Amino acid sequence: MTTDAYDWFEPLYAQADEDVSQIPWALPGAVPYLTQWLSKNEIDGKEQTAVVVGCGLGDDAEALSSAGFAVTAFDVSESAIAWAKKRFPGSTVNYVTADLFKLPAVWLGGFDLVFDFRTIQALPVAVRAEAIAQIASLPKPGGTVLIITYVRADKAIPEGPPWPLTEQELSQFEESGLAVIGKETFREKESRFSDRIQIQYQAPEQGMYK
Ligand SMILES: C[S@@+](CC[C@H](N)C(=O)[O-])C[C@H]1O[C@@H](n2cnc3c(N)ncnc32)[C@H](O)[C@@H]1O
Repeated sequence: MTTDAYDWFEPLYAQADEDVSQIPWALPGAVPYLTQWLSKNEIDGKEQTAVVVGCGLGDDAEALSSAGFAVTAFDVSESAIAWAKKRFPGSTVNYVTADLFKLPAVWLGGFDLVFDFRTIQALPVAVRAEAIAQIASLPKPGGTVLIITYVRADKAIPEGPPWPLTEQELSQFEESGLAVIGKETFREKESRFSDRIQIQYQAPEQGMYK
């Protein structure tokens, strides 16, 4: 697979030169969907590991670290990773430059919690099945995968990025062996895509990988 699908991220972060206002998706902190999920479910990450996919500037990784998880957070952009480390100098998060499509073998089946907010939707539909398969390879047996993404009802591919997901695309997580254990939808009036979904999956106890 070529890297055209995502090699525009690195120059964007590099050219922003640590000016957060230059990053179109930057939020003032961790996404409230995640912090609410953590508090509502009284998640205690002590003795547990989490991985954040496409972590960008690191706020969600820091929220998971504050909830007690030992967090690995990766992004394909080395400038984003360097910037995240600089933003959180005392952090215990392990920030790593890594490509979702070339995951280190030691990560497979390695995490109690796998979190993605807005990475899958930022990747073109042509690489979606592979992106989902890669994310689905990360949880430990019995581990959790939490995905928050825009969704679309229409099969036609919208002009992206982002490219909201269809139910059918999301069903690839289940085809990978994960079970849906929670689903919430949110309507966002401010956005050009109105529907967001938060899905919690559980990996089978016997694990996805032998
Ligand atoms: C829309 S941004 C979202 C960033 C962060 N998750 C957030 O919500 O603030 C998508 C992120 O995915 C990263 N990304 C894109 N392709 C990737 C890949 N193949 N492997 C790892 N990260 C990737 C980008 O560099 C970017 O930081």
